[in-house]
Amino acid sequence: MSKMAAEHNAINLSQGFPDFPVDPVIIDLVHRFMKEGHNQYAPMPGTPALRQAIAEVIGLTYNRAVDPDTGITITAGATEALYAAIAAFVHPGDEVILFDPAYDSYDPAIRLNGGVPVHLHLKLPDFQIDWDEVGSRITPRTRMIMVNTPHNPTGAVLKTEDMIRLQQLAERHDLIVLSDEVYERIIFDGIKHESVLHYPALASRSVAVFSFGKTFHATGWKVGYAVAPAALSQEIRKTHQFITFAVNTPVQLALAAYMKTPQHFQGLGSFYEAKRNYFLNGIKGSSFRIMPCHGSYFQLLDYSNITRIPEKEMAARLTCEHGVASIPVSVFYQDGSNNHLLRFCFAKQENTLDNAIAILRKL
Ligand SMILES: Cc1ncc(COP(=O)(O)O)c(C=O)c1O
Repeated sequence: MSKMAAEHNAINLSQGFPDFPVDPVIIDLVHRFMKEGHNQYAPMPGTPALRQAIAEVIGLTYNRAVDPDTGITITAGATEALYAAIAAFVHPGDEVILFDPAYDSYDPAIRLNGGVPVHLHLKLPDFQIDWDEVGSRITPRTRMIMVNTPHNPTGAVLKTEDMIRLQQLAERHDLIVLSDEVYERIIFDGIKHESVLHYPALASRSVAVFSFGKTFHATGWKVGYAVAPAALSQEIRKTHQFITFAVNTPVQLALAAYMKTPQHFQGLGSFYEAKRNYFLNGIKGSSFRIMPCHGSYFQLLDYSNITRIPEKEMAARLTCEHGVASIPVSVFYQDGSNNHLLRFCFAKQENTLDNAIAILRKL
């Protein structure tokens, strides 16, 4: 969709990246560490300073003591953390339960490792998990269950009841939980992010995955991390060793130094909540129906009052004929389910949103 947006000079609300500058403080830190000569390979699991800084933040945020030496692995973005965890634990024939619409790397990562993805649907309109259905789809071959909160593409969030059901099922069937929490700090409406790290029994069998790209407006730096108990981390490091070996040294050192500043991620949730509200205020009164969004920087809009054409066709028309690019939600479904929904990324400057809103209101 980004390519189509560029070809038609359309406003690009499709791909999920922010167009806000990275804090100059951290840019200066990267520069400083490069100039000081920190330009060679980092230790395979990540620089000790960054792992220590992450452990401190996890302690403060989720009240969980994580050993930085044995429990945190720095990866090339969350994508690598997800892949390394799947490659470590999913063996040929193992089944992995995941929920559609799903982030696009999950299914191929499972299949590349010989696993069998078991796609269940989140239930509209709130995109909730049907835990009874999950229970009925677990077999002796089920190895892993993947969750994502706050959720891309829907903006749905898991609640305490979800975490309890997840924990019960994972314990009963001895499953590994792979929890994609890259939007942990982009959550709205006074809701608290439910991390697997917050639940001791769940944390003991989970890999939680995070991304600095989302938290520091720096998706192009591709630095993320996996948090897991020592025994699981040990296995993840075996795959990470042969996927990337180690991640960019000066950026890791800069992130570690930056995380010592208390304000480093404060206000991120309210910053994006204001963006969401700005976008929605503009859309209110248009022909689009607004879907609930409690986190992430994506908003789904239902266009069924305008037309009932399939999502891909609608997204293409919106881009080529009207000049606003979005993503058809059907591409996040294994079976291409079509619910007349488009995903819009609101991590954009206000004037970009204004221009998109003016077009969308005319439809
Ligand atoms: C749900 C989800 N998981 C993982 C990622 C990948 O994160 P990274 O860019 O750190 O690899 C993204 C990026 O859009 C995402 O939305």
